[in-house]
Amino acid sequence: MAVSIAEPFAHDIMPRAVHDEHARENATLSMKLHMTYGVYGGDQAAYQHNALARFAKSHGRAPADKTEVRHLMMAEPFTQMWSAIARSLQEMLWDNVGGCVERQLPDLIDAAQYAPRQAGGSLRLNPQFKMPRYLSAVDIHAMPGSYGADLTEGDVYAGAVYERGAYYYTKGLVGPLSDGSGRSLVESFCQMYPKMRPTRILDLGCAIGASSLPWADAFPDAEVFGIDVGPAILRYGHARSEYLGRKVHFSQQDAEKTDFPDDYFDVVATAGVFHETSARASVNIMKEVRRILKPGGLSINSDIPHQHHDDLHDQFMLDWDCHYNSEPFWAQWTAMTSHDLMAKAGFGPEQVWERWRDRDHQGNFSLHDRPKDPSESNQGGIGKGVFWGATKTT
Ligand SMILES: C[S@@+](CC[C@H](N)C(=O)[O-])C[C@H]1O[C@@H](n2cnc3c(N)ncnc32)[C@H](O)[C@@H]1O
Repeated sequence: MAVSIAEPFAHDIMPRAVHDEHARENATLSMKLHMTYGVYGGDQAAYQHNALARFAKSHGRAPADKTEVRHLMMAEPFTQMWSAIARSLQEMLWDNVGGCVERQLPDLIDAAQYAPRQAGGSLRLNPQFKMPRYLSAVDIHAMPGSYGADLTEGDVYAGAVYERGAYYYTKGLVGPLSDGSGRSLVESFCQMYPKMRPTRILDLGCAIGASSLPWADAFPDAEVFGIDVGPAILRYGHARSEYLGRKVHFSQQDAEKTDFPDDYFDVVATAGVFHETSARASVNIMKEVRRILKPGGLSINSDIPHQHHDDLHDQFMLDWDCHYNSEPFWAQWTAMTSHDLMAKAGFGPEQVWERWRDRDHQGNFSLHDRPKDPSESNQGGIGKGVFWGATKTT
C-alpha cells in the first residue's frame, strides 16, 4: 500500500529531510500504516484458529490471563512475523530521524540560539538537575538518548528528534504540529468548564511544548508554563514556541518536586505523561499537582487508555509496546485506573471524574462516560481516548 502524507509543519527550527531521508521516512511510515490497517488484525485469527487449539491441547483449558496469551502468541509464526517487523520499523524510524538531525545539528543549534524571542516566553535551565532514574535507565520507545540527552553546548538534538520522530511515530495522526493530544485536552476542558478562565496554567511533562501551545492559543491572557527534564528538549521547545509566536515559560524541573509555590495554578495539565512514568513517580507527581493547584483549581490529564477490554487477546495486543517496544511502564499504567492514581495522591472520590472523547467522521467532538466502541479505545491521543481530572477543593 503506497501512502502519501503531508510533511510535518515546517517552522523555522524543524529539521528538514533531504531526498533520501524523506524517502526512508515515507517507506517506514507506509509500512507502519500497512501493518496497522492490513496486518495486525490477522493476529486475532491466528489466536482463534491456531493458538487456542494449541493451548487447549497442552493445558486442557483456555488461557487464564493476558500473560498466558502473550507466551502463547509469541510462539505463533504470524505473531513473531509482525512483532519483529514492528520492532524493526521502530528502530528504522529513529535511526533515520536521528541521522537527519545529526546532519544539521549545528544549524539547528544556531536556529535556537538566534530565535527571534518575539513572543515573550522564557527558558530556565538547572545545571544541577538530577534526572529521575526511571527516565535515564531506558531510551523510551527506542528514541535515541531519550528525553534527557544533552550532547553539546546549546544542544537541541533531543527536541528535534522528538518533533520529527513523534510525527512519524504517530503516523501523522496527531497533526502537523504534533499537538493533537494538547488540542483535544483544551477542547475537552472548554466543553466541560465553559465559564472557567484560568490565569495560570502548567503543562507538566511538556517536552517540546506541543501540548502547551494549545493552552496559549485558547487563553492568550493567561500565563502558560511548561516543565520537563531535558535541557536540549526544552531549548528546542522554547525556540520553537518563539518562532511560532506563542508565549510559554519553560523550565527544567522534576515534576515530582517542583519549585512552584503552593496554590499557584488554576490548571495543571498532562498529556501522555503517565504511561512513561514509574508507578511511584506517578503518585508523587499527582501529589505535587495537588500541592501547586489553587483551591478550586483543576488537574486535567490525557493518556493512553486503561485496559477496557474483556478479551484477553485484545489485552495482549494493547500491552505489546511494554514488552517489545521499550515502553516499560505501559502495562502497569493500562492496568491501573485514573481513580486509583488520584486517590493515592489524596483526591477524594467525589473530586475525580473520567471521560472518553470521540470524534466522528465529520470531525465533530463529543464526550462520554464510557468508550463508545471499546474496540477503538486504545487509540489514545488522536482525538479519541480517555482523559480524567479532579478539582482541588481542600
Ligand atoms: C510522551 S511525552 C509527552 C510530551 C508532551 N506532553 C506532548 O504531548 O507532546 C512525556 C513527557 O513527560 C516527561 N516527564 C516524565 N516524567 C517527568 C518528570 N518527573 N518531570 C518532568 N517531566 C517528566 C518526559 O520527559 C516527556 O517529555
